[in-house]
Amino acid sequence: MRIAMIGTGYVGLVSGACLADFGHHVTCIDKNLGKISALEDGIMPIWEPGLEALVKANVERKRLDFTTDLAVGIAGAEAVFIAVGTPARPSDGHADLTYVYAAVRELAAALTGPVVVVTKSTVPVGTGDEIARILAEEGAPAGTSVASNPEFLREGAAIRDFKIPDRIVVGAEDDRAREILKEIYRPLFLNQAPILFTGRRTAELTKYAANAFLATKISFINEIADLCEAVGADVQDVARGIGLDNRIGAKFLHAGPGYGGSCFPKDTLALLHVAEDAGVAQRIISAVVAVNDDRKAAMAERVRAALGGELAGKRIGVLGLTFKPNTDDMRDAPSIPLIKGLLAGRASVAAFDPVGREQAEPLLPGIDFAAEAYAVADGADALVVITEWDEFRGIDLHEMARRMRGNTLVDLRNIYDPVEAARAGLDYRGVGRGT
Ligand SMILES: NC(=O)c1ccc[n+]([C@@H]2O[C@H](COP(=O)([O-])OP(=O)(O)OC[C@H]3O[C@@H](n4cnc5c(N)ncnc54)[C@H](O)[C@@H]3O)[C@@H](O)[C@H]2O)c1
Repeated sequence: MRIAMIGTGYVGLVSGACLADFGHHVTCIDKNLGKISALEDGIMPIWEPGLEALVKANVERKRLDFTTDLAVGIAGAEAVFIAVGTPARPSDGHADLTYVYAAVRELAAALTGPVVVVTKSTVPVGTGDEIARILAEEGAPAGTSVASNPEFLREGAAIRDFKIPDRIVVGAEDDRAREILKEIYRPLFLNQAPILFTGRRTAELTKYAANAFLATKISFINEIADLCEAVGADVQDVARGIGLDNRIGAKFLHAGPGYGGSCFPKDTLALLHVAEDAGVAQRIISAVVAVNDDRKAAMAERVRAALGGELAGKRIGVLGLTFKPNTDDMRDAPSIPLIKGLLAGRASVAAFDPVGREQAEPLLPGIDFAAEAYAVADGADALVVITEWDEFRGIDLHEMARRMRGNTLVDLRNIYDPVEAARAGLDYRGVGRGT
């Protein structure tokens, strides 16, 4: 099948490359000329494990191509996916649908025959209805329909998640849309991936509910971590103790510096606005957001306390900047408020991230970027682990301690064994490790 993907970012590029790998012909469209020309030269605009090889293989087989010209990109397509950004509006936190609606208007003007327009972007309930209204208003061909197919992939494991999903959710209001999406995902349900057909509004809400629930688990365990510190318990063991219960599940029970990234912060806020517009209270999600905001803001104070109450003049070595490992994505990363707090306290910061430097540099002026992990320890009063990259787990703590001026280790991801750290002469401060 011929498929067009409008928006070639983290979601659009991965989805496009994977759909091409299923045997469809996919054209990825983006307004960003730099991105498209880089892709045409085989250069990936994002860092995602396995992506470069997947893109290259499908370009070579002539199943995947790129363009900035929407009319060219959609020619002959039976399905047109929309995977443009839906960031939080800075003024009020509502999902900003400007990019979605602009893409839909441009699409309507370019269509020469009916297609199924599939919204992959995360959008508030009712956006599909508005897209259908705009398409009609702009004179899109009769028979054009609109479906919702929210994406659940995780950056860092995006290809695997797309190809072996826990489920596929399709919200559609007509048989043609259901048939086209069934055909697109046929290779996956041959592999027994559950496909859930719902109404369009239900699919839109399912995506927000999923992210809000995961964010809830994180805020929950972070508050339990605070309690562990106060009462002399270990949150790692508490998380294991509850996570082994199948009704709870072990995932997303890692205490840390609060959630960040391109989805949870904006999607929880957007869901609150959806609820407010509907006149329905969502007290749990409100609390989840507040707990997370407070937590991110409190991390610099945690480092200050570990240093005996003084940041001024201290040198802090930071391990990890991206919002999670295996991505270069810095959107809403907990490292940003933390490092800004350290700088505001007049500490100096040396940071290392395996792939995040390029995206982090414009966001974090005034810090030194180290070329490798050990270098952040040189002359440092404290080390702070912000992102749990695998390569930090195996670091020689004795070597880090030797390079440091002080001996404080603030492990915001609990990746080190407190006993090992103590053996290296480090004053270890994990999260929720009150024992
Ligand atoms: N990043 C994730 O892990 C993830 C996971 C699931 C869902 N989502 C959702 O998917 C959507 C896209 O997220 P992303 O992280 O890929 O965003 P992104 O910012 O990486 O990519 C969006 C792309 O769309 C392009 N674009 C904007 N308007 C356009 C237009 N009119 N025509 C062509 N291209 C246009 C931009 O240039 C950009 O390259 C969002 O709604 C997000 O919430 C993201």
